[in-house]
Amino acid sequence: MKLFIDTAIVDEIREVNDMGVICGVTTNPSLIAKSGRKFEDVVKEITTIVDGPISAEVTAKDPDEMVEQAKPLAAIHPNIIIKIPFNKEGLMACKKMTALGIKTNVTLIFSAAQALLAAKAGATYVSPFLGRLDDIGRDGMMLIEEIVDIFDADPTINTEIIAASIRNPIHVIDAARVGCDIATVPYKVIMQMLNHPLTTSGIAQFDKDWATVPKN
Ligand code: E4P
Repeated sequence: MKLFIDTAIVDEIREVNDMGVICGVTTNPSLIAKSGRKFEDVVKEITTIVDGPISAEVTAKDPDEMVEQAKPLAAIHPNIIIKIPFNKEGLMACKKMTALGIKTNVTLIFSAAQALLAAKAGATYVSPFLGRLDDIGRDGMMLIEEIVDIFDADPTINTEIIAASIRNPIHVIDAARVGCDIATVPYKVIMQMLNHPLTTSGIAQFDKDWATVPKN
């Protein structure tokens, strides 16, 4: 399973990219707002950091307007993926963008039926939001599993699944176990994935013992 980072903070992207663990980035309007910077500026800068898919979301409501909003974003760099919120208009926009050779990530997926429709409309990626389902007492991972099964059973589907709305390291590990293609992970969760108390105490013990080794 590939790992993307889910943020629009370029310092976080740079740090995690330098660790060699991510190969893509997802943003959304809320994450861009949190960065406090202009949308296009952030997206352009991300393309100079990560050599992989970078999702930038359109906010127009009409399919043709979504396409018009997508064109200058897609022109920034070949790695730009246009993120489209799931609904009827979004599917129409997805079909149009696919015909124009623009790659898409259909987002805000909360059911297998939605994921199947997005795949049929030509989505390059679908983003089921597992954390937000867990938040309302549903089993988000069950949805990921269902979509993996459906896409695996249909040879005409090439759409990749991005496990999104990740809240903790267990979400990442479970997504990998059920065969999800990608997990897009917030910076905080990537930092949590680094930690194990036995690693910390193990390093401390090695340092302590090393200090007692005669050096000459
Ligand atoms: C996915 O691409 C979204 O940006 C993101 O995962 C949403 O997560 P949230 O539920 O933490 O806002």
